[in-house]
Amino acid sequence: MAERNPMTLLTRDGVSLLLHSPAAGLPCVLHWGAALTEVGAEAVSSALDRQTAPGTLDAAWWPTLLPTEGDGWSGRPGLQVHRDGRLLNPRWDAQIEGDAHTATITAHDATAGLSLVCTIEIGASGVVRVDNTVRNTGSASLGVDWVEASLPVPRSATHLTTLDGRWAREKRPVTTAVPAGSTTRQSRRGRPGHDAPMFYLLTDGEPRWHEGRVWAAHVAWSADVTYRYDRVSEALPLLGGGELLRPGEIVLAPGEEYAAPSVFLVHSDAGLDGVADRVHRWLRARPGHPSTPRPFTLNTWEAVYFDQRPGHLVELAERAAELGVERFVLDDGWFLGRRDDTTSLGDWTVDPTVWPDGLRPLADRVHGLGMQFGLWFEPEMVSRDSELARAHPDWFLHDPRHLDHRTELSWRTQFVLDIALPEAYEHVRSQISAVVDEVGVDFIKWDHNRDLVEPLHDGRPGTHAQTLATYAMIDELKRRHPGLEIESCSSGGARTDLGIMAHCDRVWASDSNDPVERQDIQRWTGLLLPPELVGAHVGPTESHSSGRTTSLGMRMATSLLGSAGLEWNVLECTDAEIEAIRGFAALYKELRPLLHSARVTHPPLVDPAWRATGFIAPDASAAVVVLAAVAGLDDARAERLRIPGLDTARNYRVRVRTEIESKCGWNLPPWVSAGEVTLPGSFLVEVGLQLPTLWPMQAMLLHLTEA
Ligand code: DGJ
Repeated sequence: MAERNPMTLLTRDGVSLLLHSPAAGLPCVLHWGAALTEVGAEAVSSALDRQTAPGTLDAAWWPTLLPTEGDGWSGRPGLQVHRDGRLLNPRWDAQIEGDAHTATITAHDATAGLSLVCTIEIGASGVVRVDNTVRNTGSASLGVDWVEASLPVPRSATHLTTLDGRWAREKRPVTTAVPAGSTTRQSRRGRPGHDAPMFYLLTDGEPRWHEGRVWAAHVAWSADVTYRYDRVSEALPLLGGGELLRPGEIVLAPGEEYAAPSVFLVHSDAGLDGVADRVHRWLRARPGHPSTPRPFTLNTWEAVYFDQRPGHLVELAERAAELGVERFVLDDGWFLGRRDDTTSLGDWTVDPTVWPDGLRPLADRVHGLGMQFGLWFEPEMVSRDSELARAHPDWFLHDPRHLDHRTELSWRTQFVLDIALPEAYEHVRSQISAVVDEVGVDFIKWDHNRDLVEPLHDGRPGTHAQTLATYAMIDELKRRHPGLEIESCSSGGARTDLGIMAHCDRVWASDSNDPVERQDIQRWTGLLLPPELVGAHVGPTESHSSGRTTSLGMRMATSLLGSAGLEWNVLECTDAEIEAIRGFAALYKELRPLLHSARVTHPPLVDPAWRATGFIAPDASAAVVVLAAVAGLDDARAERLRIPGLDTARNYRVRVRTEIESKCGWNLPPWVSAGEVTLPGSFLVEVGLQLPTLWPMQAMLLHLTEA
């Protein structure tokens, strides 16, 4: 009989996972990182087995895929389950099978009454996806506290970066030296939140965009999560995460199972841009990834807020169409009694006092002008002052005691509807479907403007069930209304994750349209999502969220970082602004095939005022660079712009696109005065272009094509 090979090597697109399956217990991961060639078990053991060190278990070796104390692991356990008030310490009997890219581990513990299926797949772009499902095979109920996937990272990874933020200022990075012990970030908002970690990123030294080794974890779940990094002295550090469950939230009856959300683990030796590139390629390869050109959109929120007047909105739509808008979205304020943000959530019928003829005439006009019609909903919410709340006071996702203290747990004067209740789900779903059919809705802006706060479904913590119900409703609506697209908005970007993106077509990144803030919000959102999935609109001259005044060129250039559009009452624009917007819409349409398929890069510039974003065509035959200055530059002579990612064997014509007006101080470099220059790729990659002294709040757009 052939000797059993304990080694499994998975390799794809420059990434390898090397697993060791011991005679008993779950496999251990010995390497996650750059690609390896096949290696014999004995040599690996000789190279990596540890000496029996004093002060540790004699026999313990590597932490397993779900490490627990029995593995000699003193960090945060990978899984915690209990029965009859007692913690179960599984002793797994495991089998592994798979192919070059995938390993499926099936494990049982008959005594504990537990089984596990763990699938580890390296996707086509090198992204590792880990899925764990735990089943109760015992005869009594099983409580699940957590099931968290993790992979080892080397000790050379000295820095941990995660994100923080607030309303209108999402995705602010925070980097620290890696601490000892178990470090978690947990969120209990019932949505990822404006301060969502989004990633745990481990880097060799400070993170850099264009170079350096990175190991990143992302939990694909749109609610409560745990991100974890564990460093104990006897083992390699572990990086991972999972769903945060509250006590009693998941109790499995015999035969039931809990599927933990997918955890994505991304390694790159090309810095943060390399991580983003892998995730973007993974997303773009999905069958459901948007394949039609991302429409130039006008959203009415900052244009009219709650001041909805049919005649005025028709005029706005007509102006939008003249400008080249392709999707017109009517935001909050169209439904029964909704005159401000204190009432009516849950009553998804058109308000006859504002819209005596319904929304159909507006939608017909929008369609007649050749645009799509979009409409705002907030399906998971209910206002106390609503027909819905009056008819079904028992449909709130809150502990009834909390409903006595209105100001305590209301949030934007609204509450959460328990859509995991089948009747509540069906009520909302059928109202939305009726409006979509009646009016002819092509796009839903699906908002979610509050944290859940102690959600209670059926007497138990309700976040898990609520999140699954949201996913199910979005899927059902899309099934019933083929072609319908849905945007995930949550007071801006508070629900931006790969869980929701398995169901939605784009996110609204922030309620800030201030381009200075948006430069960074788009950049960090872009670490996860490619530009075609992230809305970025041109707002008015004075930002509604910050009061900052910026040039139109800067606002337009920043909108090009995503799926472009307008968040502005364009009926109030000057003739010059109208001309500029028309040119911009045409520019966006010309460039979007490139922008929305490109590898996104961040050229290395040292002055903290610069923001540079490169979009390199997949075959490197063309590129766009968006340059912006968010403050005055430090040096008298601005630095050179190198553009990594270009093909060093080609020549490029670099043009300054005048649709984006730029104001610069002092003398311009000759190539900027001339408007163009032709140079070899190697020169642009290694030497670069002398940048002009761009004024603060100004931007510039470079378009490179093969010469
Ligand atoms: C919050 C969103 O982020 C805004 O864009 C807008 O849709 C408002 N809600 C409407 O209430």
